[in-house]
Amino acid sequence: MLAASLALASCNTSPKVAPAIPQDKDIESKVEEILKDMTLEEKVGQMTQITATAIANGLDITPAGDSIIRTYKIGSVLNTPGDIAQDPAGYDRFITELNRISMEEMGIPTLYGLDHIHGTTYVLGGTLFPQEINIAASFNRDHAYNMGKVTAYESRAANVPWTFSPTMDLGRNPEWPRMWESFGEDAYVNSQMAVAEVHGMQGDDPNHVGPYNIAACAKHFMGYGVPVTGQDRTPASIAASELREKHFEPFKEAMQAGALTIMVNSASNNGMPFHCNTELLTQWVKEDLNWDGMIVTDWADINNLYTRERVASSKKEAVKLAINAGIDMAMVPYECQFAIDLKELVEEGEVPMSRVDDAVRRILRLKFRLGLFDQPDTVLEDYPEFGGEAHAKLAYEAALESEVLLKNNGILPFRKDLRILVTGPNAHSMRTLNGGWSYTWQGHGASIPAFTDKYNTIYEALDAKFDNVTYVPGVEYDLMSPNWKFDENTGIKDAVAAARKADVIVACIGENTYCETPGNDEDLNLSANQKELVKSLAATGRPIVLILNEGRPRIIRELEPLATAVVDIMLPGNYGADALATLLAGEANFSAKLPFTYPKYTNKFAVYDYKPSENQGTMSGVYNYNAVMDVQWPFGHGLSYTTFTYSNMAVSHKEFGAEDVLKVTVDVTNSGDMAGKESVLLFSSDIYASSTPDVRRLRAFDKIELAPGETKTVELEVTAKDLAFVNYYGKWTLEEGEFALSIGDQNQMVRCVETIVWDEPNID
Ligand code: BGC
Repeated sequence: MLAASLALASCNTSPKVAPAIPQDKDIESKVEEILKDMTLEEKVGQMTQITATAIANGLDITPAGDSIIRTYKIGSVLNTPGDIAQDPAGYDRFITELNRISMEEMGIPTLYGLDHIHGTTYVLGGTLFPQEINIAASFNRDHAYNMGKVTAYESRAANVPWTFSPTMDLGRNPEWPRMWESFGEDAYVNSQMAVAEVHGMQGDDPNHVGPYNIAACAKHFMGYGVPVTGQDRTPASIAASELREKHFEPFKEAMQAGALTIMVNSASNNGMPFHCNTELLTQWVKEDLNWDGMIVTDWADINNLYTRERVASSKKEAVKLAINAGIDMAMVPYECQFAIDLKELVEEGEVPMSRVDDAVRRILRLKFRLGLFDQPDTVLEDYPEFGGEAHAKLAYEAALESEVLLKNNGILPFRKDLRILVTGPNAHSMRTLNGGWSYTWQGHGASIPAFTDKYNTIYEALDAKFDNVTYVPGVEYDLMSPNWKFDENTGIKDAVAAARKADVIVACIGENTYCETPGNDEDLNLSANQKELVKSLAATGRPIVLILNEGRPRIIRELEPLATAVVDIMLPGNYGADALATLLAGEANFSAKLPFTYPKYTNKFAVYDYKPSENQGTMSGVYNYNAVMDVQWPFGHGLSYTTFTYSNMAVSHKEFGAEDVLKVTVDVTNSGDMAGKESVLLFSSDIYASSTPDVRRLRAFDKIELAPGETKTVELEVTAKDLAFVNYYGKWTLEEGEFALSIGDQNQMVRCVETIVWDEPNID
């Protein structure tokens, strides 16, 4: 419908919503009891978070570190001592000592946090899952839940009660070097997976997070995944409508699901750094959502308001801007000038004491919710499942459902007796299977034999599964170096010679690992060496299966036609190669789908929910040009060894109002001859709207398993408000008019019979 009638529509401002996390009276009174006796130094100390390397030498707290904790009354410590994974006993010793000092000095336990991004990144012997981008590809919420649960259990086994995960920035720009840390490009997938992971991590009661659970940290609030230049921590230019409708959604859902902390995006949007955005931090999060959790900065990001963003002309002014905007805890992370500045600012009346009290309340509340006052430390002996078979099985199953079959001209599954050449720089590396945040920040720790020897690389897993496997790398990375961009032709000729003796070539290509700003790259094309390797192999005439092992989609436009099959395994973790071997052998079926749009050209990135005019056909007349959407593979693409047929789609309402819930059913039949799982995706399209609509949006999904010949009826629900959009003026809008709903090749038209507009979060 059009603007004139929209203006007549009602404009509802919702009353204050119920608390995102209902408070526990007992905890609240204990918080007040402590707060009333705290000095200003103690308060600003609680708000200060320091990195382990600033206070310790390896696992030993230095005398200087001890003095820093006592002088500044530090409330929280992060990161792995020595910047490399440690064993649980080491953490236990280290954190117990921190707690001893904190209790002795302040009577308040410390809050220790680690980046457990895909399982226990920084605890030796712990379980590493596939990265979030893979979990998203499974379209199975259970895997996100399991990853959260195992991560929590194994973190506590190492005496760690808090992790900086999940990441729910929308990975909508493949240049962004953290795309793989997210659940892909879609707001709904990010929301669903993040909520499941938060439940897995925190358990069911955010007020009483038990000894097998930890606090989650939804990050990075928000819009971090769409920097204009594609480079990490550079500015975004997100429209108000898009910010609320897409980027805020996963955070809103996670906070409403009880996420106890959030971390802020290091960058800026439309000239306003997120770390001093009062509207977003205080109004949207603390007031509109009525959320009483804790907001932590990212790395040095208060200082960065001065040094990088230049919205403050001194460190002290930066502190004032950030704390007044709503930041509760500063990841300083090396020096404590923050605490000195904040104390002065309060004394000078530049930051109200009420703001500091609000922050400290949130921090103390979190420590109570985590049970740290009662039991500051946990011990490994109470966690017999740490790094055990049961957890390994869950990580393996997640990997199995996360590897995407993009193309198959019938060569897969492989017969056991095929002569297979395994080649390429990703063929024999635990590092590249895991990605960044694996034993070390940049992921090169996964190449240390003592850490990962017991797991299989792709070559090892295929060799164990098939009768006749040869490995010749052809091109190699320096797997111990953080210099991830480098690869070298170490024998393309040898690989070609070996290919001539093989029945099939498995070429494992993609990227070496990186993380954050060091992962910036100017060119998403595959390296020249890798292209040469694949082209030379193709010249032998032997069939090639491309295995893509990469955190973001590398352009393979020239190579794809040379391949008989293509599998994107992304970053499937320590069990990813075993899962791949099982899938290639046909002992399990592929069931993953792309959670992002795979681009074909470096100058033509796209997302599935684009605007209609991004795909323009040729006009008649002299202006006979076009602008076509041309991607390598669309969002949601993923093949199976079987086929699924959709039929009988039906919708409960042909016409609906704002309070209705649409029940959509469809029959799905396994029409092939192998059992398989299928993710059933429901999309909507708003045909005409007062703000240009997206061509389609994912509104619901479910994953089912079907035996050959079996049919199941899948029911998916969509509330009318799920079909709303945020208009140009920042208001949620559900408009009268036609919507198309589609599942597979099935479509149904439905009609909304009323228009409503509201301006707070879209809370059902
Ligand atoms: C990253 C965060 C991470 C933090 C603590 C930052 O550089 O952006 O994602 O949680 O460091 O390690």
